[in-house]
Amino acid sequence: MTRELAVVVGVSGGIGRALAEALAARGTHARVWGLSRSRPHDWPEDEAHGWLPVDLLDEASLARAAARLAKDGVVTTVLVATGVLATEGAAPEKTYRALDAAALAVLFAVNATGPALVAKHLLPLTPRDRRSVFAALSARVGSIGDNRLGGWYAYRASKAALNMLMRTLAVEHRQTRPQGVLVVLHPGTVETALSRPFVSRASTRTVFRPAFAAAALLQVLDGLQPEDTGGFFAWDGQPVPW
Ligand SMILES: NC(=O)c1ccc[n+]([C@@H]2O[C@H](COP(=O)([O-])OP(=O)(O)OC[C@H]3O[C@@H](n4cnc5c(N)ncnc54)[C@H](OP(=O)(O)O)[C@@H]3O)[C@@H](O)[C@H]2O)c1
Repeated sequence: MTRELAVVVGVSGGIGRALAEALAARGTHARVWGLSRSRPHDWPEDEAHGWLPVDLLDEASLARAAARLAKDGVVTTVLVATGVLATEGAAPEKTYRALDAAALAVLFAVNATGPALVAKHLLPLTPRDRRSVFAALSARVGSIGDNRLGGWYAYRASKAALNMLMRTLAVEHRQTRPQGVLVVLHPGTVETALSRPFVSRASTRTVFRPAFAAAALLQVLDGLQPEDTGGFFAWDGQPVPW
């Protein structure tokens, strides 16, 4: 049987790294490929791990990565764990007075267009004859139905756009891969570089460690069936309203 590969995009990030480690510990794939802009200094150098450079703002880097992966086997798991909350040096908008066209464009490019381009280049590498999983990390704040607090305009809107892109991809993907599962996930609030400035110590909100969130997300994916494709699920398996 062809070698089965897992690909995690964003392994330099908190949740991405934890997802890659959890997948590698399972030993269910011939190799876990990590993709990110820069190689994590402690990324393992062994047969079970691979690494490729990818910048979501450079589609050619995705095409190069896909060409390399195609030589290694079929891709049965793709987890996209990239994302930005705000542009560098800026905070998420608290008011419409802070709306900035350039910042909106960057967040849409990274959070919505980027994962869609990952799908464009990696979905063709998924098998037609067996189960595969493609999951992109979204966020509950990207839910339009759940938006009661307001604020965080660019992040919310870019995640809502991601959700629509993934839902549309799922509709098309199932035409050729009926056993495929393509979903968006909310990981909960997780202690990473992205969330750290916004999770106050005094907050009563539950904050997960990346390893906990990764284990929970993989468990959710394990339980999903092809009829769940196109869905939006939280770390505890509960559907999130669109
Ligand atoms: N942490 C939370 O509480 C939380 C809650 C809800 C949803 N999420 C979502 O979970 C996902 C992972 O977030 P995290 O908390 O693990 O954040 P993180 O530690 O900041 O990781 C973000 C990742 O995105 C990558 N990235 C950013 N721009 C990129 C680009 N142009 N090309 C390629 N990679 C790029 C980063 O790479 P570099 O290292 O190269 O910058 C990093 O690997 C995101 O989609 C986030 O929105 C997180």
